[in-house]
Amino acid sequence: MSEAPLLEVDDVTVRFPAPGGGLLGLSRREVKAVNGVSLTVRRGETIGIVGESGSGKSTLGRAILGLDPVTSGHVTFDGARVSDGRRDVLAGLRRRTAMVFQDPANSLNPRLTVAETLTEVLRVHAKVARGAEAARVAELMRLVGLDPALGSRRPRDLSGGQCQRVGIARALAVEPDLVIADECIAALDVSIQGQIINLFLDMKERIGLTLIFIAHDLAVVRRLCDRVAVMYLGRIVEEGPTEAVFAARRHPYTAALIAAIPEIDPDLRLPDAPMGGEPPSPLSLPPGCAFHPRCAYAQETCRTGEPPTLRRQDDHGWACILPPGTLSSPAASTLGRQPQELSA
Ligand SMILES: Nc1ncnc2c1ncn2[C@@H]1O[C@H](COP(=O)(O)OP(=O)(O)OP(=O)(O)O)[C@@H](O)[C@H]1O
Ligand code: SF4
Ligand SMILES: [Mg+2]
Repeated sequence: MSEAPLLEVDDVTVRFPAPGGGLLGLSRREVKAVNGVSLTVRRGETIGIVGESGSGKSTLGRAILGLDPVTSGHVTFDGARVSDGRRDVLAGLRRRTAMVFQDPANSLNPRLTVAETLTEVLRVHAKVARGAEAARVAELMRLVGLDPALGSRRPRDLSGGQCQRVGIARALAVEPDLVIADECIAALDVSIQGQIINLFLDMKERIGLTLIFIAHDLAVVRRLCDRVAVMYLGRIVEEGPTEAVFAARRHPYTAALIAAIPEIDPDLRLPDAPMGGEPPSPLSLPPGCAFHPRCAYAQETCRTGEPPTLRRQDDHGWACILPPGTLSSPAASTLGRQPQELSA
């Protein structure tokens, strides 16, 4: 019998009032940040979420943790419906989850030493008895590869990589069942990025960490994540086991992201503008498949009606009318355009 998933995201939509939304809000324009996302995360699994800037990755992560309100749909964490906004349920969720942010230095309190930062979390979450805090702080620091002697330092006396390790130690201090890391290595040097990735791999091995890893860096996602979900304008357009998605992408957007990168390894990154054309605004999504204005495979049926739903075959989902196998050949992976057009 398979274990129940730790997290289930069911048809979640997040809308925000548009900036400057009109007199008394009468125009009611909305930013459609997340549009009907469904996702399952099992215990011990690492799932990467990738997509261009503005595709809704952070909003999805924040909505999962109850930091952004869910407009419709449900988030269920360990069997409890957490998206209904009930305070006691949300408090339970916060005790069992943690977020690691992009900017390591600014996400720490500059006035507190490393030891004070970690002790504060242990106290708020009542994780250890008063006398045992110092030992637990040292243990957490060792766990993330920091010398406990750095416990008396403040963020300004630490490198970016060390600050991020403190950020991860702070997240792990709550002994979370789920960590969401949002672009948490983007601001670090490449060598430090590698160390943080090794740290996550180690955590996965040693404590069975369940991780949602939001990233622009496809090489890291490939190295770290069991599964990958590709987002485009608030929707998951492809999702599946990482190697299956890399080996046989089924959505033209995923294919373009991969094809727009000159070297697949070792420094495979998701450029900010991986293909020609800007993504349409989340204020007014195109009808039909939202990717159709940029898709070389678009057909008449793609331009009208509802967006294609996520189909599944072999545990690999894709939201496109194309049959699996269409994009597997190297020529097809450039969407029929020249690679330089795609990366322009
Ligand atoms: N609180 C908010 N109010 C209004 N609009 C918002 C809010 N938060 C996010 N948005 C909008 O929602 C859309 C998705 O934003 P989000 O930050 O989730 O994207 P992202 O994929 O994380 O992008 P990036 O890679 O740049 O971090 C964007 O159009 C953004 O401007
Ligand atoms: S549904 Fe049509 S427009 Fe959308 S990605 Fe597939 S082929 Fe392209
Ligand atoms: Mg973001």
